[in-house]
Amino acid sequence: MLEIKNLDVAYGHAQVLHDVSFRIEKGQMAFFIGRNGAGKTTLLKTLMGLLTPQRGTISYEGAEISGVSPEKLYKRGLRYVGQEKKVFGNLTVRENIEIAAFSSQEPVDRALEKVTAIYPKLKDFFHIKAGQLSGGQRQILLVGRALVGDPQLLLIDEPTQGLAAVVIEDIGAILKSLKDRVSAAVVEQNLAIVKQLADRVYILKEGKIAREISEKAEVADTQGMEEYL
Ligand SMILES: Nc1ncnc2c1ncn2[C@@H]1O[C@H](COP(=O)(O)OP(=O)(O)OP(=O)(O)O)[C@@H](O)[C@H]1O
Ligand SMILES: [Mg+2]
Repeated sequence: MLEIKNLDVAYGHAQVLHDVSFRIEKGQMAFFIGRNGAGKTTLLKTLMGLLTPQRGTISYEGAEISGVSPEKLYKRGLRYVGQEKKVFGNLTVRENIEIAAFSSQEPVDRALEKVTAIYPKLKDFFHIKAGQLSGGQRQILLVGRALVGDPQLLLIDEPTQGLAAVVIEDIGAILKSLKDRVSAAVVEQNLAIVKQLADRVYILKEGKIAREISEKAEVADTQGMEEYL
């Protein structure tokens, strides 16, 4: 469903991604790991149309999408959940979900149902300002909001970063419940999560794909991945 070939991405003169190629099959979750500054966020931003590659192709459902705006890609089913966990802090949780409903032209009731289906407790927070949620609740809201409309490909950047162990488990369970429903590219440093959920792992090192791991046994054996973190 997504095929990237020979991608180069730079900020001004500083090239960050070098000749990156990979693919994500429909219904699969691909995980991207690598050290700070390896280019993981840059990669997801490029897929969402927030950055334009210098070179290479991004083919989504058979169509070239590099240079297409994030708004158009959203309408075509891409969803980006950024590393900053940015919600509309002054709006309530419910209003945060309503915005996604309007953007994707999905009835509000259905949108609210979709989000609470992954985490029923969120209902108790509907009238609370999203800025008052804990980091974990915020992340769950963001992932839930990405499910509004007709998502095909989720791009999620470090969903468990900075969260307490219990919440990490919740996020892991939520991601697991999405498997087979949508395709996903997830950046994640928590190898327990990677091991549990990944169909394929790409290791980014200094802006290049250093290794691709697609065998089940190899994905489960996270020891070999540790040296890249
Ligand atoms: N807006 C920007 N302008 C210039 N350079 C940037 C910009 N954003 C990131 N970079 C640089 O690009 C490189 C890759 O950054 P990126 O954020 O993609 O890494 P990352 O793998 O997501 O790291 P982290 O694990 O810290 O989130 C880094 O050297 C970073 O300093
Ligand atoms: Mg990052």
